[in-house]
Amino acid sequence: MTEGRSIDYESLGAQLEALLHDETDVLANSANFVGLVYNALPDVNWLGIYVLRDEELVLGPFQGNPACVRIPIGRGVCGTAARDRKTMRVADVHEFDGHIVCDPASRSEVVVPLVAGGRLLGVLDIDSPLPARFSEQDQRGVESLCEVFIKSIGDRTTDDFI
Ligand code: SME
Repeated sequence: MTEGRSIDYESLGAQLEALLHDETDVLANSANFVGLVYNALPDVNWLGIYVLRDEELVLGPFQGNPACVRIPIGRGVCGTAARDRKTMRVADVHEFDGHIVCDPASRSEVVVPLVAGGRLLGVLDIDSPLPARFSEQDQRGVESLCEVFIKSIGDRTTDDFI
């Protein structure tokens, strides 16, 4: 549980900005984004980006075990966040109808849509082996980190993830 443990998302955001601001390559910045945040958050077993390609989500840079490659829009937690363009914070993935099991160890997750200039680029997916790992504060913090990442890639699109 996260009670009693708070991450300094402001300082993490500043670190992320420093890491990304000199670079505009989307693939490099997304890989560093994922690497920094994965190592900064305790009790996380998977963290990565699914990129929107031809109306489905395709696995991008991540940390953790190999994961499912393609997720249709509207399916699972990631597909729902992408379809609704709304952060999904799921306390118990076993209770989420349609959850896609990539790693049976995952118990809770937060998925943030990555939207730039009104266009959906993909989602950031973070999984934890602990139930209810992510608080509202974590959700807001992770959303603010996604904004830093989006700012760093400017007006480029998912085609730049190649
Ligand atoms: N849990 C996700 C699938 C992706 S894996 O967790 C890496 C979902 O249901 O959308």
